[in-house]
Amino acid sequence: MIRIGVLVSGNGTNLQSIIDACAKGLIDGRVEVVISNRDDAYALERAQKAGIYTRVVKKQGFADRSSFDAAIAKVFDDREVDLVVLAGFMRILGGEFIRAFKDRIMNIHPALLPSFPGLDVRQKAIDRGVRFSGATVHFVDEGLDTGPIIIQAVCPVYTDDTEEILKHRILRLEHRIYPRAIDLFARGRLEIKGSRVIVHGVQRDEDAWMMNPQG
Ligand code: GRF
Repeated sequence: MIRIGVLVSGNGTNLQSIIDACAKGLIDGRVEVVISNRDDAYALERAQKAGIYTRVVKKQGFADRSSFDAAIAKVFDDREVDLVVLAGFMRILGGEFIRAFKDRIMNIHPALLPSFPGLDVRQKAIDRGVRFSGATVHFVDEGLDTGPIIIQAVCPVYTDDTEEILKHRILRLEHRIYPRAIDLFARGRLEIKGSRVIVHGVQRDEDAWMMNPQG
């Protein structure tokens, strides 16, 4: 069973899906610590309700990013965390932190990477007129949303979608694939080969496909 450390800044619906999946035995692991960079993050309440140890580490309390990162790394080291999970954490981690937890940091992004990296990506997908978007879980490297992809899930984008509607459609995917990706890691089924992740023991459907619009 792996020990998971989660970094949050906001609502924490992904955190909740991970807590719930651990409780149901769908992840071979437990959330050991939740760190927020904001003391008003609702994610902290979710963690506390589940009896999980929480910490607030604010950037303002540190002279520079590397000492802020080091404070977070120390909490994870002290709690002997195997995997760092970014779940709506709105700060960029520096190279030193990423190297210290090499191949042991995951992020979830609300678009089909490598399309639409960065911020405001649901509106960008709508504005670009793509017919599908979705969510991507990937390992974190030193680039912006560039790390090896673990799982993606796809949903349609409709021409009358608002950002809010698409956000919720994608969030429902996120809540399914993030626990799945973490469990694959916990069970040693992920192998990073260069920029690709090999997932061992998956079933395939050679004929799976989707079309939007239909008819
Ligand atoms: C999600 O949309 C996720 O894709 C992005 O940040 C948001 C976090 O939402 N990285 P929540 O705090 O888990 O509800």
